[in-house]
Parts: sequence; structure tokens; C-alpha cells
Amino acid sequence: MVKIAPSILSADFCNLERDIRRVSAADWLHVDVMDGLFVPNLTIGVPVVASIRRHTQMFLDVHLMIDKPERYIDAFAQAGADLLSVHLEADHPTRIAAALRAMEANGVKKAVALRPITSAKAVLPYLEQLDMVLVMTVEPGFGGQAFMEQQLDTIREVRSLIDRYNPACELEVDGGIAPGTAEKVIEAGANVLVAGSAVYGAEDPARAIELLRTAR
Ligand code: DX5
Ligand code: ZN
Repeated sequence: MVKIAPSILSADFCNLERDIRRVSAADWLHVDVMDGLFVPNLTIGVPVVASIRRHTQMFLDVHLMIDKPERYIDAFAQAGADLLSVHLEADHPTRIAAALRAMEANGVKKAVALRPITSAKAVLPYLEQLDMVLVMTVEPGFGGQAFMEQQLDTIREVRSLIDRYNPACELEVDGGIAPGTAEKVIEAGANVLVAGSAVYGAEDPARAIELLRTAR
């Protein structure tokens, strides 16, 4: 079953509670944390995640687009994240491993994320302990960008590694997901679809979520 994770990056931050309620038919809520260093944009930090946690029971899928994410694992876990994704490009492998240990210690689900330039094989050292791999289908930093078709190969490769080494691991895709691209990524093996503009830009977000879920 495909899961849909609307990205609140496309919500109205002055009406965040309302906009979270508008996507309550979704499976997860995707929260994009950006630090202005790892990506050229600044968004949400720990206090906002803590506030969101007080207003919704939804599963909080927190995507950390920050340098040296190990520094903030405890804080985001204590703020109420259910799952944290750290980018493999954001620190040395030993520190990524330490970030994953910190997630384990905090009882949150563990994921690594790949920029488009990073090859599928980069997940191998971590794969057996992961709950999810996140494959970016745009350059991280902004919502509303065009889907990168060449990432379908990476999704297929990650899917085959997951099937081989850790079949319970989820495969999430993020960036440019709309009904047309949703069909392609599901076909390639993704089972969690992040969508910002396709959900929040729609007249009826609940209907947009259903269209994505049944895209294939
Ligand atoms: C981009 C973020 C995405 C973004 C997706 O760096 O990680 O989660 O919100 O937005 P859309 O779905 O509009 O491409
Ligand atoms: Zn994201």
C-alpha cells in the first residue's frame, strides 16, 4: 500500500494547524527542515516541530536538510518527530552512523536521504538498520520544482537493494510528485510519496491525496 506524505513546506505557515487538518486523510506529515547551509533555504526548526506535535496525532516524517545533523537528533526526537531522515552528504560516514545511533537511542525511526548526485549504493553500509531510504527527485531546497526523470534509475536500484537486504525498509521519494510522476515512481518501487505543491496547490487536498495514492 502506497503512503502519502504531504509536505507542509507548501502550507500557509500562519495557518499551519488549519493546513495540517486539510491533509488529515494522508498517512504521514512531511516536515522539511533546512539550515541555509546544506541547502540555500531556511525553514522550520525544533520549536515548530514541538508545536506541530501538540496539534496533531499524525506520523511526523521529519526531513533534515542540515549540515552535521547528529547535533540535532536528540532535539528533534524530543520535539516529537516519529522518523528522522539525515542526508548522506551532510557529514562523514562515521558521524552519519552516530546520528543513526542517536535516533535508535531516542526510539525514533531511522532514515537516510540521497541527493540526486548520490548513487544508490551509498545506502549499503546502513541499509540493514534503516526504517526508510529517501530518494530526492529534485535538488533539495525548494518546493514546486520539476521532477528529475533520471532519478527513476536510482529508485529502481534502491528498491532492489532493499528487497535483497532489508525488505521491511520503506522507500520514500520527494520532489515534483504529482499524479503523472507518482505512477512512474510507484512503478520504480517507491512506497512513500512526498507531495507539497500537488496537495496544497489543489482545490481539494483530500482528493489530491487519493489521486496520488491510486496513481498506479
Ligand atoms: C524539497 C523538499 C520537499 C518539497 C517538495 O527540498 O524536501 O519535501 O516540499 O515539494 P514539491 O512536492 O512541491 O516538489
Ligand atoms: Zn522533503
